[in-house]
Parts: sequence; C-alpha cells; structure tokens
Amino acid sequence: MRILLGVTGGSPRTRRSSCCACCASRGAVRVIPTSAALEFVGAPTFEALSGEPVSTEVFDDVPGVQHVALGKGADLVIVAPATADFMARAVAGLADDLLTTTLLAARCPVVFAPAMHTEMWDHPATRSNVATLRERGVHVIEPASGRLTGTDTGPGRLPEPVDIAREALALVDAPLAGSVETQDLTGRRVVVSAGGTREPIDPVRFIGNRSSGRQGVALAQAAAARGADVTLVAANLAQDVTDQVESVRGAAGRLACSVVRVESTAELRSAVRAAGAAADVVVMAAAVADFRPAATPGAKIKKVPGQGPAPIELLENPDILAELAHERLRPGQVVVGFAAETGDASGSVLDHGRTKARRKGADLIAVNAVGSGRGFGTDSNEVTLLDGTGEVVGAASGTKRAVADAVWDAVVKLLP
Ligand code: C5P
Repeated sequence: MRILLGVTGGSPRTRRSSCCACCASRGAVRVIPTSAALEFVGAPTFEALSGEPVSTEVFDDVPGVQHVALGKGADLVIVAPATADFMARAVAGLADDLLTTTLLAARCPVVFAPAMHTEMWDHPATRSNVATLRERGVHVIEPASGRLTGTDTGPGRLPEPVDIAREALALVDAPLAGSVETQDLTGRRVVVSAGGTREPIDPVRFIGNRSSGRQGVALAQAAAARGADVTLVAANLAQDVTDQVESVRGAAGRLACSVVRVESTAELRSAVRAAGAAADVVVMAAAVADFRPAATPGAKIKKVPGQGPAPIELLENPDILAELAHERLRPGQVVVGFAAETGDASGSVLDHGRTKARRKGADLIAVNAVGSGRGFGTDSNEVTLLDGTGEVVGAASGTKRAVADAVWDAVVKLLP
C-alpha cells in the first residue's frame, strides 16, 4: 500500500514524526511536507523514518511528472497536521507546491487531521472550509481537546498519531500493524449492539430513534483491531455506517467481526443474549426503544377522514442491559451500557447518568450529552465513564473511535 503523508506548518513537532512512524509501520510512506513544515522538522528526519526521498516542490523531478505520479499512485493520503491555511488552500484548489498539486491528482481516500488554536478552529471561515472538504469526500478528523501551543487549552489539538493512523487506515480497510495497535483483547469474545431499534406500528410504519450506530460500530472496530472476536448486533444503521461495517468484514482474516442484523427490540434482545452466552464482554451501545405498540396489525392502518388518529396502545420493552447486568449470562462477564442524556430541571447530564448507573447495575456506563448537534449522527463524542455505583472512573472526548478505545481501556482493567 502506498501512503502519502502530507505535513504542513504548525507546531506539534514530535507528533508529526510519530505520525510518520505509525504509517510507516503499515505501508510504504512518502512524506510530502510544505516548506513551512520543514521549519519545524527537517527533511532528513522524515527521510530516515520513511526511508523515502522528501521534496516540497513541483519542480523537483520534472521529467517524472512527480506530482501527478505521486497522487495517482497513492492508496491513501493523510495530511497531519492540516493547518487552517492549508485547508483554505485545498478548498480553493491552489496548486503552488508538491502537496497541493498531489492532492488535486489523487483519487484515493484523503484524510485531514487539523491542528490549530481553538479560536481558529471555531472561526466561520474554517468551519465553512471543513464543511466544503467533507462535502467533497475528504475525511476530516475532529481535533482532540487539550493543551495547545503556548498556554491555551481547548479543541484544536492534533489527535494522537496512533489514532490518526488508525482512523485513516480504517478507510482503506487496513488495520494498524500489531506493533502499534494494542492487542489487549486477544482471545476475548465481545458483543456490541449498535444503532437504534424500530418497533412496528403496522407493516409500513414504526417507532424509531435517531441513532446512526456510529459509536457502536467504532466500538466493534476498535475491539476487533485490539484482537477480540466481535459480534456486532446491528439495528438499522445509517447507510454510511453500514458501508463502514462492510469494509471491516471485508478485512476477513485480519479482523474478526460477525454481524447480526436486527430491527426490533425483541430481535435485538434475542441476538444479544444468544451471542452474549459465550462472551467476556457485552456492550449495549444501541438506542433501544423503551415502548412498543401492543398490537401490530398485518395490514396498513388506514386514515378514516373525520375520525381523527387511531390511538396506539404501548407496552414497556424489557430493559436488556439491566437484565444482562443482573443475570450475568457468564461468570465474570463485563457488562457496559450507554446513557444519552440532555439534562433538565431535575438534574444535570451527570446526575441522570449516576442514577441510571445505579439502577442498571452494569459495570460501566458511558454517559454522553445529546441534543443540539451533539452525540447522535456526529463524528465525535464526549463521554464520562461511571462504575456501577455512579463513581467517575474515566472520561474521553474526540472521535467516536477514540471514545471507543477509552471504553475498551476501562473494560480491560475489569476483565479477570
Ligand atoms: O434507560 P436508557 O434507555 O437511557 O438506557 C440506555 C442504556 O440501556 C443503553 O446502554 C441501552 O442500550 C440500554 N437499554 C436496554 N434496553 C432498553 C433500554 C435501554 O438495554 N429497553
């Protein structure tokens, strides 16, 4: 596999060389720095890490038409860090150095990992450039939150190189090399539920929810990459998430992930319990409908003009997570749940999460705030991890994949 690693200006110096090292462990990497990037790390360092020549200008190797050859021959392009300036240049289609021209010639998946100060990341110009890049199919990774250059803290930090490499390689169906990826779930069987259940009202209508399944699929991918044998119980995933699952399954022989597709809560419950009987860990990331229609007629319910809506009687669904936590299908099994909360007058997101953690009896509950563009359907997430007593045992933010790895880190500590 040919990976092009574009490196732009900006200051996370050690991280850019580790990005190179992470990618180099997986394939042949050619580094294309901008001239600003070479102010921070010299070409010889990149050449030593990648084992390939490094150039910034289109005029190097003119007879070989280098910029077109590099772009056309690449299987994956990663730009990390991608500065605000570089993203603006990419949006404008500028072609004034080797990296920008190569990007225009590339037809493979392209990943940008932005890094900048929070104010620059939040600026409408940057937001609009990121939206345009995403519309054009560029995979723009959410920056991490934390210490920035100088005394600033906040969103804008370059994610860990291993996370960038992992997320980028997932797009081309390639796991990270074992030397980089932790294999701490080897030999473990895990079940992950993802998506949202649908309760049929009649043959054409249902009661459903907005869960895309992104976080659940990220959990399944992360577990498979860490060596686990994964069963993903998938309830009505969004189309792009389904495509992502197919790409994980396509990596047969390298990642062990089987998928059981379900629609309703009853189907999800049977599938999770069947696979859970042999599992070391069950993670309930699916958004499960709390109620279902008491009766489902075999024919479409007709609107009778003048009679108003037909009432729908609802019955409560079993709480699958609470059942699993209280029964334990297997001794020592670790049970994990999610709590999507908005907070209200009676308590904060965390207050509600704590109450839920105590009521459900799971070993871990990942509490996340949803609503106003947060949580459902987005690429990033922010969770607080609680134990069964409601004590905070961890926190994670960033891409759903990064959050997934934080959940597995906490699970690994609980495994016998
Ligand atoms: O009570 P709430 O729906 O907020 O709880 C969320 C957690 O419980 C999630 O882990 C979800 O998968 C699980 N759940 C369940 N069965 C239900 C409702 C939720 O397993 N009927």
